Amino acid sequence: MNLFLTKNGIGFTLLYHIIVGLFGLADSGALQLTQANLDITLASNELVLINFYADWCRFSNMLAPIFDDAADKVAAEFPEPGQVVMGKVDCDREGAVASRFHITKYPTLKVIRNGQPTKREYRGQRSTEAFVSYIKKQLADPVIEFKSLKDLQDLDEKKRVVIGYFDRKDVPEYTVFRRVATNLKEDCQFYVGFGDASAQMHPPGQPIVAFRPDKARSNEEDETFKGNLSVYDEFNIWASEKCVPLVREITFENAEELTEEGLPFLILFHNPDDNEIVKKFNDVVQSELLSEKHSINFLTADGVKFTHPLHHLGKTLSDLPLIAIDSFKHMYLFPDIKDMERPGKLKQFLNDLHTGKLHREFHYGPDPVTDPPRVDGSSGSSSTTSKKPTTPPESTFKKLAPSKNRYTLLRDEL
Ligand SMILES: *[C@@H]1O[C@H](CO)[C@@H](O)[C@H](O)[C@H]1NC(C)=O
Repeated sequence: MNLFLTKNGIGFTLLYHIIVGLFGLADSGALQLTQANLDITLASNELVLINFYADWCRFSNMLAPIFDDAADKVAAEFPEPGQVVMGKVDCDREGAVASRFHITKYPTLKVIRNGQPTKREYRGQRSTEAFVSYIKKQLADPVIEFKSLKDLQDLDEKKRVVIGYFDRKDVPEYTVFRRVATNLKEDCQFYVGFGDASAQMHPPGQPIVAFRPDKARSNEEDETFKGNLSVYDEFNIWASEKCVPLVREITFENAEELTEEGLPFLILFHNPDDNEIVKKFNDVVQSELLSEKHSINFLTADGVKFTHPLHHLGKTLSDLPLIAIDSFKHMYLFPDIKDMERPGKLKQFLNDLHTGKLHREFHYGPDPVTDPPRVDGSSGSSSTTSKKPTTPPESTFKKLAPSKNRYTLLRDEL
């Protein structure tokens, strides 16, 4: 399969170069980005999609003609300057640029929005049509306009929402609002009302922006933005904090991306209609585990969708809710979900992961609490009879990490 694609890719590339040569279209295709033109390109466009490639990499070569073709179609579709650029970086020539973007595999497709690299990479199909439709979706206005306050009454309570109350559209504050909305549209829904639709909610001439949490998942409170809405950074920081929650839901769509963040998962598996346990988990994380957020990823998972990891743990739907760690090597079960709300219990579980205790105990049974470690294990409690080292269930989520099906070469594989 790969061989076939490669041959095909080379053939296509050759043909492409002949056509380009014949018709003198050398300026078309993706924009070649270098140290010299990179910053100005990023600063002056709402969206830049960059293909980081290496000439010797066959996956890069397969992608090149497709990416160039997509760039031409996108340029035709969005001719107005400042909207979108599809660019490419030759990582061998532009080592400094490649390391600035932490490129570890070829080709890597990075999305830069409003001059800021997003955490997200392009993970869609690598076809002209898919690229073009991705760009269209990215550039679509993320802000939904409401015509009456009543429209805000039955929004999806599982979504986090930012609502803007404005007099009119053509004010600098709305430009900031909209730009920030483009950054955070995967994390929050953005609504706006102009004129009569929101006149009751703000003083004339002074827009107001409010955050509404996902009430089905958390006990957080509504909050009004108190900073200066004319200052992009101020609003962007506030909205990012509100929109990207500490505890996120893992889905099949975002699993790969969450995996790439590289932190072990602490996952609450729950019945999809059990909102109460999700809220409790949220509260415990907020009150006790905030300091751990740089060492662990707090997630919830619909246990009906994610049955596979449950089976791995020897559990079924009737055992929900339950909490487990996936360290990308192994999975560890939190012994009793009822202990979740006992102060310090969940934190201890995390500490035991960091110190290796979870893994040790799986092999050799409980660490002695007060006694010094025994060597022979022949005396003591009855649980010492079968201390045959076993292995904790293998990680299920590591399989979602960057993989073969993306036609990408990892640096380590080279
Ligand atoms: C908000 O920021 C803008 C732009 O920097 C500035 O002109 C304005 O005076 C600020 N408003 C307040 C209330 O500080």
